[in-house]
Amino acid sequence: MSDDDTELEARLEAQDSFEPPESFVEQANVSDPGIYEQFDENWPECWDGAADLLDWETEYDQTFDGSNPPFFEWFTGGELNASANCVDRHLEDRGDEVAIEWVGEPTDEANRTYTYEQLHREVNEAAAALREMGVGEDDVVTMYMPMIPELAIAMLACARIGAPHSVVFAGFSADALATRMNAADSEYLLTCDGYYRRGDPLDHLTKANEGLDGVEHDTETLVVNRLPEADSFDHDLDDSQTLWADAVYAQKGAEVEPVARDAEDMLFLMYTSGTTGQPKGVKHTTGGYLSWAAWTSHAVLDIKPEDTYFCSADIGWITGHSYIVYGPLALGTTTMMYEGTPDYPERDRLWEIVEEYEATQLYTAPTAIRAFMKWGTEYPDAHDLSSLRLLGTVGEPINPRAWKWYYKHIGDESCPVVDTWWQTETGGMMVTTLPGVKEMKPGSAGPALPGVDAEILDTTGEKVDAGRAGYLTIQKPWPGMLRTLYQNDERFVNEYWREYSDTDSDDWRDWTYFPEDGAKIDEDGYITVLGRVDDVLNVSGHRLGTMEIESAIVGVDGVAEAAVVGGDHEMKGEAVYAYVITEDGYDETEALRDAIVAGVEDAIGPIARPEQVIFTPELPKTRSGKIMRRLLEDIANGEELGDTSTLRNPDVVASIQEQVGE
Ligand code: WT7
Repeated sequence: MSDDDTELEARLEAQDSFEPPESFVEQANVSDPGIYEQFDENWPECWDGAADLLDWETEYDQTFDGSNPPFFEWFTGGELNASANCVDRHLEDRGDEVAIEWVGEPTDEANRTYTYEQLHREVNEAAAALREMGVGEDDVVTMYMPMIPELAIAMLACARIGAPHSVVFAGFSADALATRMNAADSEYLLTCDGYYRRGDPLDHLTKANEGLDGVEHDTETLVVNRLPEADSFDHDLDDSQTLWADAVYAQKGAEVEPVARDAEDMLFLMYTSGTTGQPKGVKHTTGGYLSWAAWTSHAVLDIKPEDTYFCSADIGWITGHSYIVYGPLALGTTTMMYEGTPDYPERDRLWEIVEEYEATQLYTAPTAIRAFMKWGTEYPDAHDLSSLRLLGTVGEPINPRAWKWYYKHIGDESCPVVDTWWQTETGGMMVTTLPGVKEMKPGSAGPALPGVDAEILDTTGEKVDAGRAGYLTIQKPWPGMLRTLYQNDERFVNEYWREYSDTDSDDWRDWTYFPEDGAKIDEDGYITVLGRVDDVLNVSGHRLGTMEIESAIVGVDGVAEAAVVGGDHEMKGEAVYAYVITEDGYDETEALRDAIVAGVEDAIGPIARPEQVIFTPELPKTRSGKIMRRLLEDIANGEELGDTSTLRNPDVVASIQEQVGE
């Protein structure tokens, strides 16, 4: 490092707030500091501005209907179609502009560019193919696809005919697919033959077929052929399966009128992990969700039609839904899709893409930023990243060091960084700085967005003082919020509302949304999110339920009992630590360890793979028989344990500690 660099690092290190760059503010979509007050004074009508970003088939009668809490409704009486909003309405002015720019993992493969005109064609034909297959309005269509253009096309095709989609992350296991298809009674699956991961073709259809074996009802499948002949796997399709290309080709030139959907009609379901083993089917609607995705894309990501916007998430997660597909396309911009990982073939792949396509925004995750930091600055330094205007991060807390590295080495100190807190359930961003308005404080996501009412409370419901840890709560409904958990209103109320609401009240003001995150707030209203307070882990920005992993482990032959906790991990944020008691007659062997890891991968996927499997004769339990998870976390993190004498079995602690230290 040169002396100049060292000086710069020292200056950055000492600095704890950053003004938005002047050059950014001058051109920002939102730059009026008065917006916070205006929204507060004009709530809920402030959200008419979000709805105004969309084209409505029928104008809505009422902005917000809070008459049946917590089943809130937005833009009631309105009708619209999400695919018409993301595609058709841009044809006149932007038909020849690029809607989706897709980059495959192999560097010698041509990228695929879809103009709005071409996307329109593809979406219409796909919609016609889905109808031909029998998909009707309100039928749930499951998609188990990696980052290929057909995934976005299929989502929009579903939206066009009013069929909610349920996208299952391609990295999830066959079992996870089956669970989700069964839970949603989904009779249709869209998948593909395979895709590329770090240079190798990966067989995806065999996994999809294993999943289908676990589905309890009849299904129809369309299979996208992604791999070229040379890399293809020999798959035989059965009678219920058709090649996507054949089904779509048969509809060449078809026009499908977008179905007018009620604002409150379901646009999609997204399954996410919760405290119990059963994943939660988060239901999002057409009007509220799409308005939220579009407004936050406009106000926070500062997306303009001329941009080339790059979000490196996977569409299999909510980030990709809201900020690769729906938000950016609703605004008529160019959205990038990248199939591969950031380190293939080299650790500069993302920077190469940013340079080549002149990306204007980059939205990624702290886990990726930590990896970039570790790999070193030579990779970004080798590329011209000056097209970038804004940087974003999402998925987990970002530590100030990583934030500053991102700001300096990727943004060249001229791009605001938005640290966006939100969840699958919120539909879109909730807490973050408005990049053209607010100063940034590394390590804190920022204030709640205008019109969003966040408070940090203690267990009794009192506001905590600035600087003290408490629980993040959202006091007012917002258009993008989940409406319920699919076919489980009761769990919806219990999971998100019971904690802080007067559940007997029919006044919406008595209801408070609880995201299950810990947080603190400073004097300026900046919120630092501290992490989940339920039994949910955040591994590389992906949400995993400890119960799901535990039930996978106890399903392995030879395991009697298991407890899973999160331990700190330099790259992943959190990693899975599994404490396992073997059954009588089984030895604590490496083979059993391997079987446990394989069992977790089969039940959930490689993202849930335990970092360490620790055998123990007993789990530390309280006198009342509760597993002391906190203690297991401390052991995983190698922390001081304090008093363990209240345990029923204090002796077990030392023996566990010994193993973790190994
Ligand atoms: C959980 C939601 C939001 C899309 C990706 C994850 C954590 C998310 C941040 C952030 C601190 C964050 C929270 C939240 N989280 N963003 N900027 N700072 N924590 O969606 O899988 O629904 O997970 O991710 O704990 O509750 P998800």
